[in-house]
Amino acid sequence: MNSSCCESQIVPERTILAPAHEIRTGRLVLKSPVNVEIKRLASLANNRAIAENLSTMPHPYTEQDAMSWLADGSKADKDEKRFSIHLDIPDEIFIGIISYRPSKEGGPFELVYWIGEPYWDYGYTSEAARAVVDFAFEEDGVGILEAGARITNVASRRVLEKCGFEYLGFAKCHSLALDEEVPADRFALTRPRYMGLKWRQSTHD
Ligand SMILES: CC(C)(COP(=O)(O)OP(=O)(O)OC[C@H]1O[C@@H](n2cnc3c(N)ncnc32)[C@H](O)[C@@H]1OP(=O)(O)O)[C@@H](O)C(=O)NCCC(=O)NCCS
Repeated sequence: MNSSCCESQIVPERTILAPAHEIRTGRLVLKSPVNVEIKRLASLANNRAIAENLSTMPHPYTEQDAMSWLADGSKADKDEKRFSIHLDIPDEIFIGIISYRPSKEGGPFELVYWIGEPYWDYGYTSEAARAVVDFAFEEDGVGILEAGARITNVASRRVLEKCGFEYLGFAKCHSLALDEEVPADRFALTRPRYMGLKWRQSTHD
């Protein structure tokens, strides 16, 4: 259920605010999405080409959806990490979201991301995903990251390959925007594989 704007300002007793985190890469700043402008988030997210590639993004995507999503992220979920992606320029323009959370209780962490369409194909997601993968394994003690990509989603598969994920197999996943099951490929990056890739990378630097 969506929260209203007012509800988002109420902090229930059990709520622990998620700790702030910030990562800087060559061109990007990734941080807890607390100060993302609602209008900007809604206008970039309101794109069928994005929603149809994600499991839980509604389409159309309204400012109410943006408010609910931001409010939801400020509640207690110590296992979920959400980052808003910004260009590292004076106004730190917001361009997308990357996150990971357990796909089900006790299950593996699922990496999910989207970038506003005007910013596709500049390598921004690959840059953000590499940094978040490093954060997950090196700062957050994650043991395995998994991700899914619709079989039609060549760009997402490429991002995962560039981050070292390996192909697990075929699966079906539900798309909220399409309201149907869609064929998808599953990928995983285990800690040992990540450490091996890092080691190989450092020995070739
Ligand atoms: C998938 C998505 C995040 C990629 O973002 P991006 O910032 O454009 O990704 P990058 O630029 O870092 O990398 C894209 C790669 O795919 C490649 N690519 C893109 N479209 C391609 C196509 N049609 N055929 C082959 N390669 C393609 C690019 O060339 C690039 O690879 P390269 O660096 O080796 O050249 C973006 O398209 C998006 O938000 N899509 C909708 C949401 C989504 O699919 N999320 C992923 C599901 S979890």
